[in-house]
Amino acid sequence: MRQPAFRRLLVTGGAGFIGSHFVRLVLDQGVPEVVVLDKLTYAGSLRNLEGVLEHPRLRFLQGDIADPAAVAEAVAGCDAVVNFAAETHVDRSLLEPAAFVRTNVWGTMVLLEQALRAGVRRFLHVSTDEVYGEVLAGAARETDPLRPRNPYAASKAAAEHFAFAYRESYQLPVLVTRGCNTYGPYQHPEKFIPLAITNLLSGQPVPIYGDGLQERDWLYVEDHCRAVWTVLLYGNPGEAYNIGTGQHRPNLEVARRLVALLDADPSLIVHVTDRPGHDRRYAVDWSKLAALGWAPQVSFDEGLARTVAWYRSRVDWWSARRDETFAEYYARNYRNRAAP
Ligand code: NAD
Ligand code: TYD
Repeated sequence: MRQPAFRRLLVTGGAGFIGSHFVRLVLDQGVPEVVVLDKLTYAGSLRNLEGVLEHPRLRFLQGDIADPAAVAEAVAGCDAVVNFAAETHVDRSLLEPAAFVRTNVWGTMVLLEQALRAGVRRFLHVSTDEVYGEVLAGAARETDPLRPRNPYAASKAAAEHFAFAYRESYQLPVLVTRGCNTYGPYQHPEKFIPLAITNLLSGQPVPIYGDGLQERDWLYVEDHCRAVWTVLLYGNPGEAYNIGTGQHRPNLEVARRLVALLDADPSLIVHVTDRPGHDRRYAVDWSKLAALGWAPQVSFDEGLARTVAWYRSRVDWWSARRDETFAEYYARNYRNRAAP
């Protein structure tokens, strides 16, 4: 049998959407010990780790990446770290930017510092294509300047700067991935695709910001996780890697497809006031990652069908996530969004 690449791997944010899929992937890959550190904010849930939480090679720690003592305990004896933990929702960042600085910037710095002290061999920071700002034409390359335009994107760009500073200043072997919009099972229902699906399943309108012609490149969650794993194994420390698919779609088209897949009433698609500073288009060139042997495997049609089937069959999961906290946020974010 092939030697496992890592003896003990720390995955932060492993009870979130992408992190929980990544935990499953690394257990499948045979990593001998996987430690998950997650604060279990509104976005995280142990139910995202159903089926693997009791796995003998998994250890779950509830804790904050901004807390040096919690991080020191989690990273002890680890030879690699993958940092998924973050505040991740742009709309929330417009309402409460400070929380994004605390976790995404300060928390990442605490994690970098503790990883350095623990002497890890690899530190992969999971970033986003939103750090480039809107890309009105063509596709962003890793060498392009970072021009974030909303507080979430700004906090992720700041975190990257700290990560690369730890590489330059202290030789921490840092890698960064910049993934595009991701979707699939276990995504919190306040994000666009699961919000649209669960609203349609509940007979509620799907809010489309502005004209709905903003474009996103959609990446199936398992493809995102394989990309992170590929960069962790084969990437060059000190470098960033874009993750994309080239499957750009305007939001309105995505909503219309979901209506068709769910056989719902098209009049449930409702235009509302746009998000301030809404990036019109994201697009990345991912040829650098392709050179490491990665390619997306799930087409948008296939991924969307799988996602719809999952949410249809898991009303138990998503109705528990559409709780009071969700209702409060929903009222706050959508209350004053009359049709434009
Ligand atoms: P998510 O919001 O579903 O999960 C985030 C997880 O981090 C949750 O489990 C939460 O409890 C945990 N967390 C938050 N603050 C924490 C803290 N201070 N300490 C410890 N844990 C904390 O997010 P996601 O969509 O799975 O995104 C994961 C990562 O991928 C993020 O870094 C995000 O920026 C990045 N990313 C996401 C997308 C996307 O479309 N979802 C695309 C590109 C990059
Ligand atoms: P989102 O899932 O919040 O991801 P991001 O803003 O990080 O790209 O939103 C995806 C797209 O969908 C984005 O262009 C904003 C849009 N959107 C709506 O039109 N209505 C909504 O209610 C939400 C949540 C998003």
